[in-house]
Amino acid sequence: MFPKDAPPSNTYFIRTFGCQMNAHDSEHIAGVLRSAGFEESPTIDDAGVVVFNTCCVRQSAEDRVWGNVGAISTGGRASRVVAVCGCMAEKHGLDIMRRARSVNLVFGMEALARLPGLVEAARLSPVCDLGEVGRASIDCLPSVRASASQAWVPVSHGCDNNCSYCVVPSVRGTDRSRPLEDIIEEVERLADEGTVEVVLLGQNVNSYGRDSRTGPFARLLEEVARVDGIKRVKFETSHPRDLTPDVLEVIGSVPEVCEYLHLPVQSGSDSVLAAMNRGYSGDFYLELVRRARREVPGITVTTDIIVGFPGETDDDFSATLDLVKAAECDAAYLFLYSAREGTPAATMSGEVPDMIKHQRFERLAATQDGFTARSLEKVVGSDVEVLIEGPARRGDMLSGRTRGHQVVLMQRTGVAGPIASVHIDAAGKHSLRGSILNGEE
Ligand code: 5AD
Ligand code: SF4
Repeated sequence: MFPKDAPPSNTYFIRTFGCQMNAHDSEHIAGVLRSAGFEESPTIDDAGVVVFNTCCVRQSAEDRVWGNVGAISTGGRASRVVAVCGCMAEKHGLDIMRRARSVNLVFGMEALARLPGLVEAARLSPVCDLGEVGRASIDCLPSVRASASQAWVPVSHGCDNNCSYCVVPSVRGTDRSRPLEDIIEEVERLADEGTVEVVLLGQNVNSYGRDSRTGPFARLLEEVARVDGIKRVKFETSHPRDLTPDVLEVIGSVPEVCEYLHLPVQSGSDSVLAAMNRGYSGDFYLELVRRARREVPGITVTTDIIVGFPGETDDDFSATLDLVKAAECDAAYLFLYSAREGTPAATMSGEVPDMIKHQRFERLAATQDGFTARSLEKVVGSDVEVLIEGPARRGDMLSGRTRGHQVVLMQRTGVAGPIASVHIDAAGKHSLRGSILNGEE
């Protein structure tokens, strides 16, 4: 137990929920705190400042955060700061402190530069500083990178697509592209520090530069690939409507650009796609996948699918099953539809009963599992290039990814990495097992 008047502890612990953009934002949160003299705490219990960087894309993500903030206390330390930031902060603001008594700081990402001052203020009384919601521009702030060899680099923030189910545009704002020179400068700096792989991030990367004159995305890809020392370039997430032929050409012709596309389809039914405001049909998506495979042999294509969108009939669901069978994606992330307050879909009629949603989900998962397994088995027996990312989450293995973004688990060896040639020995349900043949010093 800590005495109430113990000196404030300048250690922090960040727990991140949600997407890679959030994981990357957390690197900036750590950077800002580190620059102000804070140090990372190995455990949440010992930290003087606990930051929950949150996600609200689905209710299940919010529930996990509420569970986490509900379980934490100030531990008897008057000076302990429990902070909530990220998408739930932008969405709920002050209400978070009303609902979770232990939270004494809520901040928006636009306020991140002010975080050290906010922490000091919150030690005296609760603080909420959202700044200008959806206008955050944190790329120039310091950051602590999780990996030395791989880095996430945002190319744009926010989204203009207004898919009818999605809360992202309201919490992250409209689509703002970073100037091309800033991105290249950042990649050059990263390469100098030893980064060999960059993953360009955007809610819709392919719309890069549309709001300014810095695009198109294909040109940005080429310029990033040209930076000395960068050996692999990946990007996510692609919107099928905006994935132009020049991007496929660049993937096919520029060696540094990896053969990987994350291309969410969301549904196989044209009427559901229209209600989602996605701007394409199932056939358009299938043709795009075929074209990608034609132009880039061996490309890995992954997707996202929402099950149980309002009004989804048995026929709509069958169309999604048919699309999954025709597209043969290498992996798919399946989600149960979750109504998000303030989105157009939340007021649509035709709610799909939970039981049916779950049954459809199970059928879709079983179908996709077969394609995922086939995709992984195809690699067994071959030697592939793997970027070793670090220790695996479980067990005493190393984890890395192929150029196609498939996860490979390997026994530890003396190899320094970061890029190694790996013999693939076996396929698991969602990852590969391999033996390192050689790596770079
Ligand atoms: N309900 C369920 N899934 C959603 N996604 C986004 N919004 C919702 C929602 N309201 C899914 C989409 C998106 C992925 C990141 O999350 O499939 O591509
Ligand atoms: Fe949401 Fe659609 Fe934008 Fe993706 S493209 S962030 S699903 S609005």
